[in-house]
Amino acid sequence: MIEAGSERSCGERVETAALRESSFSAKSAADGGCAIQIASAILFGEQEHAHMQSDPPAPQMRFGSEAKPGEVERGGAEMARAVTPTEKEPMRTSEVAQTLEAQHESASERAHPIAAEGISYEDLYRRWEHGAWSAMDLDFGQDAKQWRERFTEFERQAAVWNYALFFWGEDAVADNLSPFIDAAPLQEQKYFLATQQVDEARHAVFFKRFMNEVCGIGDGSAAGGLAAIRRQLSPGFVKIFERLDGIADELRRDRSAAKLAAAVTLYHVVIEATLAQPGQHMISTYLSERDALPAFREGIERVAADEQRHIGFGVRLLHDLARQDRSVPKAVAGLLREVMPYLAQVMMPPNWDERYLTCFGYDFERISVEASSSLRTKLRSAGLPMETLPGPPLIAAGLTVEEMSRRGRALAQAGIIGVREGPSRRDPETIALLFDTMRRQVNADHGLRRPITFQWDFTDEDVPSWRLTVDGERAEALEGADGHPDVRLIVRYQDFVDIVGDRLSPLKALATRRLRLRGRPSAIAKLTRVFPKG
Ligand SMILES: [Fe+2]
Ligand SMILES: [Fe+2]
Repeated sequence: MIEAGSERSCGERVETAALRESSFSAKSAADGGCAIQIASAILFGEQEHAHMQSDPPAPQMRFGSEAKPGEVERGGAEMARAVTPTEKEPMRTSEVAQTLEAQHESASERAHPIAAEGISYEDLYRRWEHGAWSAMDLDFGQDAKQWRERFTEFERQAAVWNYALFFWGEDAVADNLSPFIDAAPLQEQKYFLATQQVDEARHAVFFKRFMNEVCGIGDGSAAGGLAAIRRQLSPGFVKIFERLDGIADELRRDRSAAKLAAAVTLYHVVIEATLAQPGQHMISTYLSERDALPAFREGIERVAADEQRHIGFGVRLLHDLARQDRSVPKAVAGLLREVMPYLAQVMMPPNWDERYLTCFGYDFERISVEASSSLRTKLRSAGLPMETLPGPPLIAAGLTVEEMSRRGRALAQAGIIGVREGPSRRDPETIALLFDTMRRQVNADHGLRRPITFQWDFTDEDVPSWRLTVDGERAEALEGADGHPDVRLIVRYQDFVDIVGDRLSPLKALATRRLRLRGRPSAIAKLTRVFPKG
């Protein structure tokens, strides 16, 4: 077993080499004294690197600039902090991408703008052969004893909720990978995807066994276990996995590069890198801190090492597809636009009870920052940085990763984005947050030569008017009516929020007169230039 110290020194050599060299070579690998390609280490991070030389695998592998545990300021009161004083200032939309680039660019990424080019399908396949393990051979005897004796009742409840997401997710990804194999253009890609499908089945078996043998859930069959956990799934999780089922079906009918790229974005980048990886890191961290559940922990670390390989493959494939077909960036952006509103609700514990995370030393903000960082970094590694994707902005501009995470949660909790489980909040802070987010998502390429003001006049007596003025690169949202807006939107507050949250089509709202527009037709037409649909 490799020592922590030796992992560190090897990783440091990788980082040093990344800073020194503009491209990796066999010589630089030899200089570093590491047996495997250093280029791959850029993509996989130092612990995967260590794993390749010795067992057991380490779970937490990071791409370039991802936030590390402990870097995130903790705390609640997300709504109060979701709009900081500086965020209320008018901003220049064109400056945002540059700001975010500067915040997130790491030394290794500067040296390797497209990390995907440093990894090969052949190397990924070889890693799979070397990383084989058995879910059936894990002995959960000690785990079952510790589960009863060292976890409180609430901790068991919280852990089962979290593990249920993994069990369901592993089963779903195993089920849905076949059309990816058919659609992949190269034989080497098909071979790797075949190994990945085996991995996903093994992961599902691993979770099924733990849930049944340690937690006493289900009847020992996969179907029985899945049926027993179905009601534990969070609303955002259900939406994301319904979309995975849908896009797998679409891929069966349409094997184009664009469709495959959208599917890989959902499967490898969103589900595996953005959702699963931070969750695995959380589980592995608290089990390690508690020195608990040895067999489960070993399995989680094996799963995490497999997922690193899958994610590396997805990044490389996305990069290659984008080179083949110019429509890929648009397909990637379209898929992200569909699913991003639901991300904040995936790790949403029942009743937003954050104790489901804090009882294990984590919190919502920490895990969502890890998720956001992972998403951004993988897209960048594929040569498709989020800020460069076509169409309207995917994220509210000008916010740090921490601010974006807080805002995502606040908007989801308020019933603005994602699955709405009751009336949306309509307090002044929520409405201010909504309009501030809208002004940050104004299309920077609107091409308007003159300032324009849109005004929302709500038919609800308790909701004041709001207006948004776009003037070149500046966008400003203010509460209250203006005497002479260019366009007035007359709408019920809840209908407007449902349009923003993609739960109500604006065309349907217009057709049914739930949304009425007032203003010159030429001004009304500019709405779609400021807020285009992807
Ligand atoms: Fe998996
Ligand atoms: Fe996977």
